[in-house]
Amino acid sequence: MKKPSLVVLISGSGSNLQAIIDAINSQQLDAEIKAVISNQVSAKGLDRAVSENITTHVIDHKHYPSRELFDQEMIQVIDSLKPDLVVLAGFMRILGDDFIDHYQHRLINIHPSLLPRYKGLNTHQKAIDNKDKTHGASVHYVGIELDSGPVVIQAEVPVQADDSAETLAARVLTLEHKIYPIAIKMHLDDRLKFDGQQLLLDNKPLMKPLRWNNDQLT
Ligand code: GRF
Repeated sequence: MKKPSLVVLISGSGSNLQAIIDAINSQQLDAEIKAVISNQVSAKGLDRAVSENITTHVIDHKHYPSRELFDQEMIQVIDSLKPDLVVLAGFMRILGDDFIDHYQHRLINIHPSLLPRYKGLNTHQKAIDNKDKTHGASVHYVGIELDSGPVVIQAEVPVQADDSAETLAARVLTLEHKIYPIAIKMHLDDRLKFDGQQLLLDNKPLMKPLRWNNDQLT
């Protein structure tokens, strides 16, 4: 039987991509990564893909005169691969409304904060500056507004008194690597759906995000 397929979009290190690859290799996730697309030619995640024999594409936004043309090229490449789910894994370009509309209900992102707190960049420093007791990561379907769309799973870490943005980011990232493959699996297994209005898990409305706690989903 044909495996459900992903296209993964990256811009940098690709550690979340690696977590997805590892989940596939350990058969936690039954999926095929059709391609990894980066807007940065030097993204380390491209090397990770190449060493797994995954097709890579570089679509460098600097070569396109407008966001629309860049997005159109992305759509053309992604559609030719017919993925079941488009996975943003550290993709650092804002995607236009047409792109988001085009992949509505099958475009997922991971963001390093407990959304709706701290949309955008420098989330770890913001959590420290605001003396938050906890911080974390959220997996969400992508909505039109930046870092919006219904949140599927969140994982929380305590902020420690001596945390720097780097130490906090590292702890959050470890949890990102756990929750992202789980959310992707739920989508590909048809358990999780975003119908445009609400999230459904096993055909029931998911009223609040699932929580990843002590290696368990609650
Ligand atoms: C992660 O913190 C992710 O939440 C954010 O960008 C970072 C990407 O890291 N969107 P990596 O490239 O997966 O290592």
